[in-house]
Amino acid sequence: MSESKRAAGRLAADLVESGTIVGLGTGSTVFFVLERLSERIREEGLTIQGVPTSVDTETKAGTFGIPLATLDEVSAIDMTIDGADEIDGGYQMIKGGGGALLREKVVASLSSRMVIVIGADKVVERLGTTFDLPVEVVPFARSVVQRRIEALGGAPTLRTDKENSRAAYLTDNGNEILDVHFEAGIADASGLERALAEIPGVVESGLFIGLAHDMVVGQEDGSAELSSKARQ
Ligand code: A5P
Repeated sequence: MSESKRAAGRLAADLVESGTIVGLGTGSTVFFVLERLSERIREEGLTIQGVPTSVDTETKAGTFGIPLATLDEVSAIDMTIDGADEIDGGYQMIKGGGGALLREKVVASLSSRMVIVIGADKVVERLGTTFDLPVEVVPFARSVVQRRIEALGGAPTLRTDKENSRAAYLTDNGNEILDVHFEAGIADASGLERALAEIPGVVESGLFIGLAHDMVVGQEDGSAELSSKARQ
């Protein structure tokens, strides 16, 4: 499993050019992106500024010696490299398995190019068939949002804290996550993203539509391949 992530992460990090602002996604595949960027900074003198999408990535990037900037300091991002929980043939994604969906979507929306790094197991025919959809909600509105999601055909489960299963998991923004199961997967991802955005109390959903430009798919044999979305 980690060999495919490593291969994808390293190839994507090699796409980064000196003098650019780079969005740094979150997750175990992005770890290998950070590791390779750190190598390039030391060995080639690569100069970049990274914009982290989570406290976890901020900490790891700091340890790797990657210079960081905040969204108060930059207004546009040249390239973002991030993982995904599922991606389909139209480059639509489910993200948020690591809970960082809100900051990831903000950073993606500011990026000229978004490169997704994944192992081959993340590529699906239909979203929602192998992974439940994370939805970030304001704790005050959780029950109301749960009922509205059920009315849309989803089965939400409150994500719990890894260390204390009786407590709700909290995002970096102090919100909760509902992981929503759709029995037959998600037929209309754009429509569902809009419907969720209209529910008061929903902060953001893990549906990423029209944001990814490229994907790097790693294999367990250590190879990786870059593909790009056809321009419409
Ligand atoms: C973080 O919230 C997610 O969107 C991650 O990008 C996603 O879960 C991929 O993580 P891994 O690379 O660890 O599989």
